[in-house]
Amino acid sequence: MRSTRVAVVVLATAVVAAGCGDKSPSMLKTHGSEASRIAGIWWLMFGLGAGVYAVVAFFIVWAIVRGRRADGGDGRVSDNMWIVWGGVVVPVLILGVLAVVTVQATTDLRKPEAGALQVEVVGKRWWWQVGYPGTSVTTANEIRLPAGRQVEIGLDSDNVVHSFWVPQLAGKLDLIPGQHNILRFTPRTPGTYIGECAEFCGVEHARMGFVVIVQTTTDFDRWMTRHQLTPSSPDGESAIEGEVTLVTQACAGCHAIRGTPAQGTVGPDLTDFGERTTIGARTVPNTPENLAKWIVDAQSLKPGALMPPMPMSDREVKNVIAYLEGLK
Ligand code: CUA
Repeated sequence: MRSTRVAVVVLATAVVAAGCGDKSPSMLKTHGSEASRIAGIWWLMFGLGAGVYAVVAFFIVWAIVRGRRADGGDGRVSDNMWIVWGGVVVPVLILGVLAVVTVQATTDLRKPEAGALQVEVVGKRWWWQVGYPGTSVTTANEIRLPAGRQVEIGLDSDNVVHSFWVPQLAGKLDLIPGQHNILRFTPRTPGTYIGECAEFCGVEHARMGFVVIVQTTTDFDRWMTRHQLTPSSPDGESAIEGEVTLVTQACAGCHAIRGTPAQGTVGPDLTDFGERTTIGARTVPNTPENLAKWIVDAQSLKPGALMPPMPMSDREVKNVIAYLEGLK
């Protein structure tokens, strides 16, 4: 029994500690309007819950210490007032306050603002397609947003249900096939924020991550302007050969690169690939070594990924890497 109790305590401590790392995208360390509002409600619920716990614990201790009554009674409280207040009035008041606060917050957080930035995110198996309506920019797994301006993220799926969650910026919202959902929030602080798929969506659900890069308005506008241009031609012999290999081989059937004959729409658009920080929706860092493994056998890094192994020579792989890493 003792060892079981020790094991439970150790396990519980480990679970709590695991959520406390500095790098954890804690929903209580907020950097967006919607997340702040949600965190406020969380603290209110925590405070009320803690209050109820303290009162109940007090009465339990009190009953133990007090024990049997001196008058020979069994010590039980018989007064109906306890039932009425503790069982009806107080719970109704607490739940009433929470209902008003949450319904109000839900309404406020859905309000559109003039001049909001439109972003369109489509959940794929198992990555995120990101587009900016009205521009030619399409990317994957990295969403750039300007700080201080409301964003309206349209969420769609053409396969199964996913859920979009960036804990430090906003609440979760599902991507449901056949239904267009809109998530609105205003990111506050420039920085990089971790996002996850929060709905089980198949074998690679756990590797369906993304990042949101919040930039100052100036930096964001500069990025947007540059990315609307067709990428410059590959630089160097290896990269030039790599482009030829990529657009003439099977790669071009699934991937698009703006300004080239590669126009596939099955896999992620690779137009700004060299700028991305990770490969495979935050599965591994974007390094030439990881990219080589990914091209030759993506399954070795992300089993179940829909990218098939590419039958390429070492030289072709090296050239394709030189080309892709230069796309910025
Ligand atoms: Cu997509 Cu879980």
